[in-house]
Amino acid sequence: MKAGANMNRNLAMDLVRVTEAAALGASKYMGKGDKIAADQAGVDGMRKMFDTISIEGLVVIGEGEMDEAPMLYIGEVVGKGGQKVDIAVDPVEGTNSVAKGLGNAIAVIAIAPRGCLLNAPDMYMDKIAVGPKVAGKIHIDNTVEENLRITAEALNKSISDLTVTMLDRPRHSSIVKQCREMGTRIRLFQDGDVAAAMATCFESSGIDIMLGIGGAPEGVLAAVAIKCMGGDFQGRLVAYNEEERKRCGKMRINIEEALLLEDIVKGDEAYFCATGISDSVLLKGVVYTGTKSAETHSVVMRSETGTIRFVETIHKFGKKPKYAY
Ligand code: FBP
Repeated sequence: MKAGANMNRNLAMDLVRVTEAAALGASKYMGKGDKIAADQAGVDGMRKMFDTISIEGLVVIGEGEMDEAPMLYIGEVVGKGGQKVDIAVDPVEGTNSVAKGLGNAIAVIAIAPRGCLLNAPDMYMDKIAVGPKVAGKIHIDNTVEENLRITAEALNKSISDLTVTMLDRPRHSSIVKQCREMGTRIRLFQDGDVAAAMATCFESSGIDIMLGIGGAPEGVLAAVAIKCMGGDFQGRLVAYNEEERKRCGKMRINIEEALLLEDIVKGDEAYFCATGISDSVLLKGVVYTGTKSAETHSVVMRSETGTIRFVETIHKFGKKPKYAY
């Protein structure tokens, strides 16, 4: 039997409720300059909703170690019982974006059968993400130039029409330089590389490839989404100090190793779900439509079938007093 062949297909709607709850919680703090409060509200919303789902979910990517995070910590078991699954969460992916009222913030969850998600430590990862037409052609070991040429060819675009996206960070100056020398277009963004990686799988986004270094936990979340959409995601952990090197050693992770999509998400039965907190290329953020109502926009996907559902929800808070949005 293939890994996790019995994952309940009706889990999708439950997952949407989980990310909606996180997004509704965090969005109350939009632009208020308090990223800790925004994150806490997202965590509270997400954690509470997990209690309603029939799974036995082990958090493998979460808010931190048990002594750092009271909820959704690595190793916590959530859900009201059922199939044993691995869970990766980021209740607020883009905490700074929420605090500053900027775009690209989403509430995210990924689920796969137990043992199928990479337990990535909280450090950096060098990443490459592309859509379905380029899948299987790029490689993290190639030079930037090689990967850009392969991507342009697979998309039947000239190099000057190719759009490369990456986090706006000084550490990416050499990639920016190489892109400029080659003449590609560049879209820098401030935060939220899960949403940016996902954009490569939608031609209408205009984003062809994402490159550069971001968080490793976010890399696992993006990899699940990209697996569901038939694109390609690869990474390599980046250790900036001896402590990080030691942590990888303890976890028996080889830092030098290229992590291919199958190394990050094993098998073909994962779910990914995200709800927009602030606007991104794919998802609108939370819209308040009255004192007691709001609209959310989510996407939920399943790798086994490749089905991608966009869910637009109208929430009437007065009728859901149990959830203190
Ligand atoms: P947080 O929500 O944890 O702040 O992550 C936002 C983010 O932009 C991620 O999308 C990205 O992977 C990471 O931060 C990049 O890290 P840094 O800000 O240290 O460059």
